[in-house]
Amino acid sequence: MKVLVTGSNGQLGNEMRRVATEMCSGHEFIFTDVAELDITDAAAVLEAAKGVGAIVNCAAYTNVDAAEDNEDVAYLINATAAANLAAAAKAEGALLVHVSTDYVFGGEGNTPRTEELATNPLGAYGRTKLAGEQAILESGCRSVIIRTAWLYSIHGKNFVKTMLSLMAGRPSLNVVFDQVGTPTYAGDLADAIGTILNTPAPAEGVYHYSNEGVCSWYDFAVAIGQLAGSPCQVNPCHSSEFPSKVERPAFSVLDKTKIRTAFNLTIPHWQTSLKRCVAMLQNS
Ligand SMILES: NC(=O)c1ccc[n+]([C@@H]2O[C@H](COP(=O)([O-])OP(=O)(O)OC[C@H]3O[C@@H](n4cnc5c(N)ncnc54)[C@H](OP(=O)(O)O)[C@@H]3O)[C@@H](O)[C@H]2O)c1
Repeated sequence: MKVLVTGSNGQLGNEMRRVATEMCSGHEFIFTDVAELDITDAAAVLEAAKGVGAIVNCAAYTNVDAAEDNEDVAYLINATAAANLAAAAKAEGALLVHVSTDYVFGGEGNTPRTEELATNPLGAYGRTKLAGEQAILESGCRSVIIRTAWLYSIHGKNFVKTMLSLMAGRPSLNVVFDQVGTPTYAGDLADAIGTILNTPAPAEGVYHYSNEGVCSWYDFAVAIGQLAGSPCQVNPCHSSEFPSKVERPAFSVLDKTKIRTAFNLTIPHWQTSLKRCVAMLQNS
């Protein structure tokens, strides 16, 4: 099967390049980022999707803070372009694997979010990602929508790399302990997408994927420091100490039961995958 990957220079897209050779050598991959295929260009998307059996959309407007001032641009990439991909998938009878976010939920409650829970985005990014999900579902194309959270990898910008660079230059650091969720190593998510691509007639629907376990950003930062052997002191603080235009969910643990069961996945604990990623960063 031919597989079109969009946004392939990003964190997840780069991990899909690895999955293509390690797990999916039976498929033919076409990797694109905005220079080769701007997913906001509906005609170009239709053309690029000709003859494909699947599209994996790793492209997105991911700057959560900037989205507050640029909701129209975020909407174009996260919603209008998702509709373009859905239309192309429908025209080809292809499967669209699309990635969404825990930010479609508000932060209320303290039980893991299932796919059935009512959405309630707190900001522009979450609103535009939710609109993207809805456009795909309304299109009637074959789709697997995977909501993920706290994505990090050796590529691009992310919390792990930011913490390592801050810890290298400071004796101490304050990190919020009142937002709780689960990190996701992009390599693990890409592996899950590889499994889905290798599944004949995968069950369509909305799924949740992060690593297993639960932590606050503070716990995450402490673990990063310990794995890196950093002497930097990490102190817990409240979100109110970091004023932001965006209200972030206080609790955003995703329940992975559905994706685990549907695709027989073994999902690593966040500490296991963090250890792998920090080791890779230190050896690079
Ligand atoms: N990062 C997180 O913490 C997080 C959390 C939850 C969910 N997610 C979701 O997970 C998915 C993957 O995220 P990620 O962190 O891998 O994203 P990323 O690293 O920001 O990569 C996104 C890629 O898409 C490209 N892109 C932007 N506009 C495009 C366009 N019009 N046409 C084609 N490509 C375009 C970007 O190029 P430029 O860099 O040049 O803009 C970038 O290479 C996204 O759907 C995101 O919403 C991410």
